[in-house]
Amino acid sequence: MTILIKGGTVVGPSGPYSGDVLVDGETIAAIFAPGQAPEGPEIIDATGKYVIPGAIDAHTHMQMPFGGTEASDTFDTGTRAAAIGGTTTIIDFAIQRYGEVVQDGLAAWHAKTAGECHIDYGFHMIVGGVDDDSLKAMDYLVANEGISSFKLFMAYPGVFYSDDGQILRAMQKARENGAMIMMHAENGPAIDVLVKQALERGETDPIFHGLTRPQELEAEATSRAIWLASVAADCPLYIVHLSASKALEQVRNARDLGRNVFAETCPQYLYLTLEDQLGAPGFDGAKWVCSTPLRSGKESHRADLWQGLRTNDLSVVSTDHCPFCMKDQKEMGIGDFSKIPNGIGSVEHRVDLLYQGVVDKKLSLARWVETIATTPARMFGMYPKKGIIAPGSDADIVLYDPNGRTRISVETHHMNMDYSAWEGWEIDGKVDTVLSRGEVLVSGGNYQGRKGRGKYVPRSLSDYLV
Ligand code: URP
Ligand code: ZN
Ligand code: ZN
Ligand code: ZN
Repeated sequence: MTILIKGGTVVGPSGPYSGDVLVDGETIAAIFAPGQAPEGPEIIDATGKYVIPGAIDAHTHMQMPFGGTEASDTFDTGTRAAAIGGTTTIIDFAIQRYGEVVQDGLAAWHAKTAGECHIDYGFHMIVGGVDDDSLKAMDYLVANEGISSFKLFMAYPGVFYSDDGQILRAMQKARENGAMIMMHAENGPAIDVLVKQALERGETDPIFHGLTRPQELEAEATSRAIWLASVAADCPLYIVHLSASKALEQVRNARDLGRNVFAETCPQYLYLTLEDQLGAPGFDGAKWVCSTPLRSGKESHRADLWQGLRTNDLSVVSTDHCPFCMKDQKEMGIGDFSKIPNGIGSVEHRVDLLYQGVVDKKLSLARWVETIATTPARMFGMYPKKGIIAPGSDADIVLYDPNGRTRISVETHHMNMDYSAWEGWEIDGKVDTVLSRGEVLVSGGNYQGRKGRGKYVPRSLSDYLV
């Protein structure tokens, strides 16, 4: 079965060009100059559209048990919504909790995903209990299970938290076996003090979630992680969900010194604020409770993050998709913000929200594609199978219509959430067609994929390993 995607503008990391993309089965066979392709294949008309690699969301939490409940998107609903929004691969986080065996945690995530996913998926491993056994398991996962990145937490004492000694040991192990350490960089013990003090003062509204997690505690943890990685012989380090100017400054300084340090941000930090969203009247702010938190719109965080994306001090945009409904889930924190399950759901909207950055002249077309597809593929060992339109790569392809328009709403989204963090937002562009390994999942905006077709992607080591 061959398909020719004809007449479009292909966007790669080196910029846009006119080209016709020939798909043969599950892979891209060739790219022809306009009009040079052989006759015969089925044609998809891409006139007036951008032809981009299927986007990769390197940070999702489908059906994650967290905060006394479970993230509301299953691998079925979440990967379907992702596909509709132009994402053809996710990397979710398998979890080892303190006291559990790492391999059992991984097996649990394979069981959750089996027969459920609409698109391809990989796993990072959260190591919630760094000890001799889990360090050995890290080697095993890298060598045998296609897992080349491990997330540690400086936040959430008593849940996923690792102390500095544990972090250093895991980093030394990663330096040996070539894996990437991903860090949730917030000073958890200090945050717990501020949370307790706020609650004692009767400050219980959602906005206090943000006010008790000041950017200094993100910057301090980011800096500490960077120095610990330095002691671990410059172990590759990737800071997740970076939200704040002062944390970005730490990453920028390290990178300017040539350090092996990378970071991602998420759409919520590029657009939303502590005052407008987290500080919404009544309990409404709970919709935007996530960690790291939304930052003040009175400071320069959002502009600094956009700039960081342009300068590559921020390499990747992921969603940290961790949805909870208001009813029965976020509502657990009425009267006590610390009981609101942490997370925002955006897996369906990342491609659109970042395209709006192109329209607003904050990002180039090439940088849009790089931050949502190519760099996540390279960062996490899936390139060039994923993340690029090139001969031999998987035919994961999105036709994006710059003349279309997307209105985001709970009425129309496909995520399993009873509200939208982006209600009423309008984007000057639209996902038109989505192919995953040559199969058309979305055509003219209509979904025709199916659950169970998505495959596990065993990952190699990062391209960025030095
Ligand atoms: O609020 C968030 N980010 N929830 C998901 C868990 C995490 O720390 O990434
Ligand atoms: Zn985190
Ligand atoms: Zn720089
Ligand atoms: Zn996360």
